[in-house]
Amino acid sequence: MSKGPTPTLPGGEGGKLWGGRFKKGLLPELEAFSSSLQLDYELYPYDIAGSRAHARGLAAAGLLTKGQLRAIEKGLTQVERELDTGRFDFKPSDEDIHTAVERRLTELAPDAGARLHAGRSRNDQVALDLRLLCRAAAAALSASVAMLVEALARQALAHADWAMPGYTHLQRAQPVTAGHHLLAHAEPLLRDAVRLRHAYEAAGEMPLGAGALAGSTLPLQREVVMRELGFTRLSANSMDAVADRDFALDLVYACALIGLHLSRLGEDLVLWATSEFGFLRLADEVATGSSIMPQKKNPDIAELIRGRSGRALGALLSLATVLKGLPLAYDRDLQEDKPAIFGAVENAAECLEAARLVVERLEFDRQRLEAALADPGLYATDTAEQMVAAGTAFREAHRTVGRQVAAGKHTPPWDAQESLRRRDLPGSPQPARVRARARAVAREAAALGRWSAGAAG
Ligand code: ARG
Repeated sequence: MSKGPTPTLPGGEGGKLWGGRFKKGLLPELEAFSSSLQLDYELYPYDIAGSRAHARGLAAAGLLTKGQLRAIEKGLTQVERELDTGRFDFKPSDEDIHTAVERRLTELAPDAGARLHAGRSRNDQVALDLRLLCRAAAAALSASVAMLVEALARQALAHADWAMPGYTHLQRAQPVTAGHHLLAHAEPLLRDAVRLRHAYEAAGEMPLGAGALAGSTLPLQREVVMRELGFTRLSANSMDAVADRDFALDLVYACALIGLHLSRLGEDLVLWATSEFGFLRLADEVATGSSIMPQKKNPDIAELIRGRSGRALGALLSLATVLKGLPLAYDRDLQEDKPAIFGAVENAAECLEAARLVVERLEFDRQRLEAALADPGLYATDTAEQMVAAGTAFREAHRTVGRQVAAGKHTPPWDAQESLRRRDLPGSPQPARVRARARAVAREAAALGRWSAGAAG
């Protein structure tokens, strides 16, 4: 941030846009504590889009002349260019991105710029900017989910008939396929995409016109602003409009579940890459070594994906805590929504990408999988079910096979491939069904990618 002398602007002590009723400025020691610029800087594209739309609404209401609207639009384009190219000169008096943009616009277009904030408050302005950001983030994250799901589906298709032990309680249980296991990580991500879509819709409410909390006496054209910005509806209550962050909670919750789901994927990869399991060989490009132990090849990326879930869940707790017990309508506490929202989105985006890069390079070790499949216990349930098919009561069959296992006398009725072939139920690991589901999942990922591109506009 470039520090410069505090400018003296119309209306105020210390150059604040709200300076009229103040004789002294905020203590310099408290400027940084109060400022959100470091955080809300990222909102600038939305702040400028919102300001453009608000200006058009003011013009439609007869509150700006055509010339004034043109001056504002030209000024905003210039401000945007300065921010895009890093040439924007921030002043110590800029409290947040909203004041910074308006301050600069007013320098560029003094008369028209000073008219822009009519009928608007930073309370509805930040509510608008955040909704726009959350919509863009939900669309972008959906695209990242789509890419990871697509990578999982591709690997699942390639390993649709690669038998491996499935686990419960982390004990060998029954045969599945690597493809089925990978798709079991794709399904939660498809549900995350539904949650992201919901977060996108939830943020589709246009809050401008709510003002500070009580609307405005001016004849603001809310529908004009709504259409300009591509929102689907108007907020129905001016107090709720500035106090509501549920749309952000929805997004952060979706991010938290993405983090949680990826942590489970990370854990499976870590386990499979151990010498004890040995199901996976880690590609060099997604593994790291040890500074002391020459033999080591560590699954750090998968571990970091697992560990990053801490941030994801922390953001959810942090945002919910900020909101709890807040009196209506706007309170400055709400400024603290930003670390949670931005952190959650960035974390999810980074983890989704890292997971995709790892998944694309998965290499299963067929010999190790086959060695593990030689455990006869994996087929004990098949033996019991074979007896059930021949008429034995299941409890009876279970007891009989259990005794065989205890005596070391249980012999599997068939091998892993046959066990899998017989699992001809929807949703089961039969290779033909895994193949079909992998193709369907890839199609869902493609549709998700198309939706994201459309939603991102
Ligand atoms: N930086 C503030 C935030 O993020 C903007 C709104 C400030 N409003 C106010 N009345 N002080 O919440």
